[in-house]
Amino acid sequence: MAQPYLHGHHASVLRSHEWRTVENSAPHLIPYLSKPSLKILDVGCGSGTITVDLASRVPQGFVYGIDPSAEVIEKARNHAADKGVTNVQFEVGDINNWKDLNGVEEQGFDIVHAHQVLQHLQDPLGATKEMKRLIKLGGILAIRDADYSAMQWYPDLPGLREWLDLYITLAKRINCDPNIGKRLHAVAMQAGFVRNEIETSADTWVFSTPEERAFWCGVWAERAVQSNFKTNALEYGKTEDDLQKIVDTFRELEKAEDGWFVILNCQIICHVTA
Ligand SMILES: C[S@@+](CC[C@H](N)C(=O)[O-])C[C@H]1O[C@@H](n2cnc3c(N)ncnc32)[C@H](O)[C@@H]1O
Repeated sequence: MAQPYLHGHHASVLRSHEWRTVENSAPHLIPYLSKPSLKILDVGCGSGTITVDLASRVPQGFVYGIDPSAEVIEKARNHAADKGVTNVQFEVGDINNWKDLNGVEEQGFDIVHAHQVLQHLQDPLGATKEMKRLIKLGGILAIRDADYSAMQWYPDLPGLREWLDLYITLAKRINCDPNIGKRLHAVAMQAGFVRNEIETSADTWVFSTPEERAFWCGVWAERAVQSNFKTNALEYGKTEDDLQKIVDTFRELEKAEDGWFVILNCQIICHVTA
């Protein structure tokens, strides 16, 4: 049984996931997608927009998306149908129990991909070891996670620092590492990759234009009072007023003509050479 996902899958959470594409969320993978017959596993695929985009880039290949949430798997299947993409399969599944999944086999994939997943796992090393087992010789493991401690914004609204500190505390309380981005390569080394098999890179999401700020600030203004973030924060001892302050702060950032918000995404590509 997978652990509960900190954010949950409220509409405000899914809105930020459904914006994601290969171009804005997996740029490190693009150079490795030139062969159209690749077989790819997308671990923690969520509502599947990256997964379906991957499938459309490997028309003679096949992409398998897994996620423990039946609710998002249903959404992912609907998204693939809407896009008319048929070389993709979505199944409810947990990376730690991949043996339960038909069609997921040891050394069965050219690429195993996980986007913003390791930060939500209590045992990211165990999951990385399992993902490594599923890759063919010559294949790659592609992982990307944000590093919450590296987020930046302007203007320096105190409420945003309080929001970030609270987020980091709530994630650590359930034994997850919201700052795992900076050590993805170290986790891969612990999982058995040697350093020269690992390429590291980083990329940012920048929310700066009025439309970008409206999107990002809107997502968090809603999440703070409607998603599992709210439930977790109240359980931790925060009040409705504290959460309203977070909403007000994000709305202030949204309105600030000179406002911006930057997320650092750390990326690794690990080559399976033996
Ligand atoms: C932040 S979301 C990322 C979704 C998607 N990769 C994206 O970027 O849009 C993290 C996802 O990991 C899933 N997840 C959590 N534990 C998992 C596990 N043990 N195995 C596979 N997926 C898991 C969650 O259900 C959630 O949908």
